[in-house]
Amino acid sequence: MDKVYVLDFGSQYTQLIARKVRELGVFSEILPYDIPISRLREKDPAAVLLSGGPQSVYGKNAPQISKKIFDLGVPVLGICYGLQLMSHILGGNVVPSKRREYGSAFLKVVNRKGLLSGIRDAGQVWMSHGDKVKEVPAGFVITGTTRNCKTAVIEDRERRFFGVQFHPEVIHTEQGKKVLANFLFDLTGLKPTWNMGSFIEKKTREIRNIVGRKKVLCGLSGGVDSLVTSLLIHRAIKNNLYCVFVDNGLLRKGQYQELMDKLRKKFFLNVVGVDAADRFLNRLKRVTSPERKRKIIGEEFIRIFEEESKKIGHVELLAQGTIYPDVIESNPVKGPSSKIKSHHNVGGLPEDFNFKIIEPLRELFKDEVRRLAEELGMEKDFIMQHPFPGPGLAVRIVGEVTNERLRIIRDADDILLQEIRRARVYNKLWQAFTVLLPVRSVGVMGDRRTYQKVCVLRLVQSVDGMTAGWYPADTKLLSRISNRIVNEVAGINRVVYDITTKPPGTIEWE
Ligand code: XMP
Repeated sequence: MDKVYVLDFGSQYTQLIARKVRELGVFSEILPYDIPISRLREKDPAAVLLSGGPQSVYGKNAPQISKKIFDLGVPVLGICYGLQLMSHILGGNVVPSKRREYGSAFLKVVNRKGLLSGIRDAGQVWMSHGDKVKEVPAGFVITGTTRNCKTAVIEDRERRFFGVQFHPEVIHTEQGKKVLANFLFDLTGLKPTWNMGSFIEKKTREIRNIVGRKKVLCGLSGGVDSLVTSLLIHRAIKNNLYCVFVDNGLLRKGQYQELMDKLRKKFFLNVVGVDAADRFLNRLKRVTSPERKRKIIGEEFIRIFEEESKKIGHVELLAQGTIYPDVIESNPVKGPSSKIKSHHNVGGLPEDFNFKIIEPLRELFKDEVRRLAEELGMEKDFIMQHPFPGPGLAVRIVGEVTNERLRIIRDADDILLQEIRRARVYNKLWQAFTVLLPVRSVGVMGDRRTYQKVCVLRLVQSVDGMTAGWYPADTKLLSRISNRIVNEVAGINRVVYDITTKPPGTIEWE
């Protein structure tokens, strides 16, 4: 199998490069920029991509690579910082730009062969850079320019080194996928033979190698990610996988029982159910800080997994359904982004726990996980279910979590889901849920004054959870939901609609 590696210099788009390459049917993985060249050579890359990054090549701690990378004999494509670094190393001249270029620009094609074969003139490209290449290294020619950047595309076709100043991996670059396809297929000579089936084969082998004869515990959250994780691991090590599904009291109405039946009867997984609702609620008493809630819940999950693993005996590994958006939002290693939330299956874990973690979906985006789920035989309805956060309803109750508030939000959430399913809107949305605010407002019901809580409806559309737009719902639908919630859920007398995009908001309220 041909493999393409992306060396990560800290750009927030690095994963998108790997994902776009995979979408094109070529296996691709990310490696840290400072991987020793000998290790990279052992991995037998068919091509190497150098990602963007927030630094200047002249910066004090600017990430560097060895010149030997250009002796591997494989094609290299540098993107943004990757292009600048390549130029710098190979003897070109990189200078600070007078004007930082951020946002869209329009590409003028100077030479429509090689990287820009079949690319239309004046197409939009997405730029994000301070420095630029003033003089290209010997052997390179400029094949594309923009108004502010003469060296938007440079190529040395003889040695098969290429560079683009813009980001071909983001959707704002209209013909970006074609540029990547030209690099992979025309210039590197690869064939699009990789698919989710090959991913399953590769991961199964990898899991067998990592796990050997050890026992693995997998915590199920009720969502697709952790179930896909279990099915993959189950495929690799069969009954050495032990699944634990915890009723933390923070699940949706009916979610626990429904899923428990499915796990046992449909997927034949070895599942232990743990009723721990009181335990979580006790730990959450008087806690109002969102980050504290996440940490407590993450920690409590681990304590339960530890207890269950003692019962099973000799469990060394804990599997988690962490996917890529969870990783970057919790754990930015470098780059310009900062910590946003501790997602429980990443950043909310206690420091003193006794498992090694395996996360086979760590490099995938949600839509890739869904394709994987399909390949593993899950039904469409289950696959298309909305993501549900690990800390569950606790991050949808602003303020303290109590039994009464859980009852209220569960009932409101159930009504919302019934109505959007009935209106055939469910599958158009990334998520739809209710949020309970600790704010009370005055209302009037049947001539009586009420003073009750406010419920927020959050309906969002998104491709990968990284950005999201609020859904312009039909007013009749909103009105039906609002009427039903106020009439049927004791404790709520006002319903409001959240019209905040992400960014600047996040999808969940906490
Ligand atoms: P935010 O609220 O950060 O959420 O915009 C992005 C996506 O991630 C989900 N989410 C989580 N998933 N554990 C999870 O497994 C978590 O702690 C967690 N927090 C948020 C959220 O529902 C949305 O789809």
